[in-house]
Amino acid sequence: MRILVTGGAGYVGSVSVEALVAGGHDVVILDDLSKGHRDSLPADVRLVVGSYGDPSVVRPLLAETPVDAVLHCAARSLVGESVANPALYYRENVGGGVAFLEALREARVRRFVFSSTAAVYGTPEVVPVTEDAPLRPINPYGETKRTVEAALCWYGAAYELRSVSLRYFNVAGASPLNGEVHEPETHLVPNVLRAVETGLPVTIFGSDYPTPDGTCIRDYIDVEDLARAHLLALEATAPDDPRTSGPAGSGAALVLNLGNGGGFSVRQVVAAVEAVTGRPVPVTLGGRRAGDPPVLVADASRARQVLGWEPARPDIRDIVATAWAWRRQNHGGYRA
Ligand code: UFG
Repeated sequence: MRILVTGGAGYVGSVSVEALVAGGHDVVILDDLSKGHRDSLPADVRLVVGSYGDPSVVRPLLAETPVDAVLHCAARSLVGESVANPALYYRENVGGGVAFLEALREARVRRFVFSSTAAVYGTPEVVPVTEDAPLRPINPYGETKRTVEAALCWYGAAYELRSVSLRYFNVAGASPLNGEVHEPETHLVPNVLRAVETGLPVTIFGSDYPTPDGTCIRDYIDVEDLARAHLLALEATAPDDPRTSGPAGSGAALVLNLGNGGGFSVRQVVAAVEAVTGRPVPVTLGGRRAGDPPVLVADASRARQVLGWEPARPDIRDIVATAWAWRRQNHGGYRA
């Protein structure tokens, strides 16, 4: 099928594009390159430079190149930035997201996979977290993702939209071709690897959490495992697939956590990087970062059951090894 991937030049998007192309699909990327990297794009995949929220870009794109399904990875996704500038997040993630859904509705595109986040749960009371846990986001980023998820639900009931929202936990690692580079970089694994490369310490945000070693525990999921889940989710939106069918011919919104169901602390991630690189990681102990829940681990059994998805790389050392290999190959990042 032909799949439009928004944010296909970004971290998760570029690795997902690889998986879709390998699966035999025809891929078109829509990316404004505000965060994405031209270097990540396969030579034979078409890139349209523009915003998913701009109907003057999306309408002609869909008219010229009809698509069967959409993978919507593009979004603003920094928690701290969302707290400082919620208007940006509402304007782009929600306003842009609804404008995008409207353009898709006009073009009768009814298959949609959405990059959502564990941030929709806020600070969960029970871990591992199931999809039925209360949604209480504690920052605008999570709130805007929750809002789009809800829109997908109502669009399914009214407009036959079949969707899957994938709530990512902590994505890490790399494919042989594409890896994680953000500017600024806030994520733990690339920051720890950079500390190895530069010799400048990485700050551990909080060592007094109620966890065995005092640092936060997260569920790290390999980006290639995540990419395979996208392919399976897109297949689940096929016309008449019961997984995204609602009553009386309507569409339904399926929601799935994507994690491994196992947690690693910040110190365990640092130890994994030391084991993989064979080098010491310089660290500084800092204060807690606002908004960090102590433990965030997925119950991802629904994704396993419903999609038949099985993570191939659940061990943090194996995930770190892919990220390290990619950084060494690419001198720490992309050229463009
Ligand atoms: N951390 C450090 N030092 C760093 C970076 C991170 O100690 O330099 C710690 C954080 O405090 C946290 C853990 O490492 O305890 C993981 O932090 P990340 O920034 O890598 O990831 P988050 O858990 O904050 O964020 C992830 C996703 C978000 C999502 C969030 C849900 O990246 O998109 O989970 O809570 F919103």
